[in-house]
Amino acid sequence: MSLLELDDVKVHFPVRKGILFDRTVGHVYAVDGISLTVEAGQTYGLVGESGCGKTTLGRAVLRLVDITSGGVVFDGTDLARLPGEEMRGFRRRLQMVFQDPLGSLNPRQNIESILSEGMAAHGIGRDQGERREKIKDILAKVGLPANALSRYPHEFSGGQRQRIGIARALVLEPDVIICDEPVSALDVSVQAQVINLLEELQQQLGLTYLVIAHDLAVVRHISDVIGVMYLGGLVEEAPSDVLYESPRHPYTKALMSAVPVPDPEVEDARERILLAGDLPSPANPPSGCRFHTRCPWAQERCASERPVLTDLGEGHKVACHFAREIEEGTVEQTRSTGIDAVVATKAVVRKDAEVAQEAGDPAAAGVPSAAAESGADASVGAGRPGTGTAAAEADAGGADEAPAVPAQSTAESADAGERSPGTG
Ligand SMILES: Nc1ncnc2c1ncn2[C@@H]1O[C@H](COP(=O)(O)OP(=O)(O)OP(=O)(O)O)[C@@H](O)[C@H]1O
Ligand code: SF4
Ligand SMILES: [Mg+2]
Repeated sequence: MSLLELDDVKVHFPVRKGILFDRTVGHVYAVDGISLTVEAGQTYGLVGESGCGKTTLGRAVLRLVDITSGGVVFDGTDLARLPGEEMRGFRRRLQMVFQDPLGSLNPRQNIESILSEGMAAHGIGRDQGERREKIKDILAKVGLPANALSRYPHEFSGGQRQRIGIARALVLEPDVIICDEPVSALDVSVQAQVINLLEELQQQLGLTYLVIAHDLAVVRHISDVIGVMYLGGLVEEAPSDVLYESPRHPYTKALMSAVPVPDPEVEDARERILLAGDLPSPANPPSGCRFHTRCPWAQERCASERPVLTDLGEGHKVACHFAREIEEGTVEQTRSTGIDAVVATKAVVRKDAEVAQEAGDPAAAGVPSAAAESGADASVGAGRPGTGTAAAEADAGGADEAPAVPAQSTAESADAGERSPGTG
């Protein structure tokens, strides 16, 4: 039995409208039928474009969002159906490390207070003295000095703060840690240190990780298995090396083709797949295969029939009707994958603007900034899925650009959403 098993998990957020009568006018299909398993002591890497539902899936495992349907079986117990009180006991065993280390640490609490909060809530340590000793031990494990105890989050660098975030999870002695974009807010040089630390801790403590990232390079080395998400669903899953050597789903191929190769000859010769268009809205996902509006190989069947994630052998699972034919080269491309895909997208936007100008609509005819840029960016940025929609970009930017000492509102939002799931 696997330690963590997700069975057809769906998280649909209702979209409500109305002032007097609150009525549901639709749903955001953030997570729409995900099944995966994470083995004890292993790392499952989950990658995908901004807004594809990675964080929502992580939060669903911890029951921080309501699960619409499906099962989340952890160590033999289905958490999705567990009453709140019983879930509390499991919260300690499943911890989360967040992307924005500063935003997720209360600026008014010192490190000892931040780390002992969850311990006290879960009855770890007989008194504060015992808890302090354990915290010192964990701080040493994550590479922080013991005198960090009396200091405040703003006195640390970004990398150190992420170590505090990891320590906060570790003091609760969890089995599983869900790391949501654990290094995206950090400098590249510090990213590697934090990833190495996570690996060391896994070996020492036998931890199981679900690592969420939009950057393929981040999950590659740390993951045993990688799952690629697109618009609420898994499109491909394979052992890490296999996925990198032979991606089979057209979306994964596009992501991989944008990752630079250090060898200049290989870099110049390799084929890049540039995706036209932007990630569709999860509130109005395309019919059939969700990727058919951007897929270079989309056929008629793709618009009506949703492909199922199917094992093509040795655990390499792909959700594509034509995975074999694409591999054999026996199916025609229906869309360009070259630079003209980008040019085509820009041309459509330009044409729309010209039409609007002729029709005398200055707003639509203005510099096609938002639409044009996001369209072009999404195409060019196939390997940088974080550069998806403008709205999602604004969200991510907000977290990255948090001031050194966050304002009250940052602390408040951290209180409400992200801080200490373990104490919940
Ligand atoms: N509480 C909520 N209510 C309504 N919609 C939500 C809620 N939380 C997330 N969403 C929507 O669900 C979709 C998936 O969001 P999610 O944060 O899971 O994406 P993500 O893959 O983590 O993106 P990113 O890489 O930007 O962090 C988005 O369209 C988002 O706007
Ligand atoms: S099912 Fe069709 S649209 Fe979807 S990835 Fe495969 S070829 Fe492309
Ligand atoms: Mg996210």
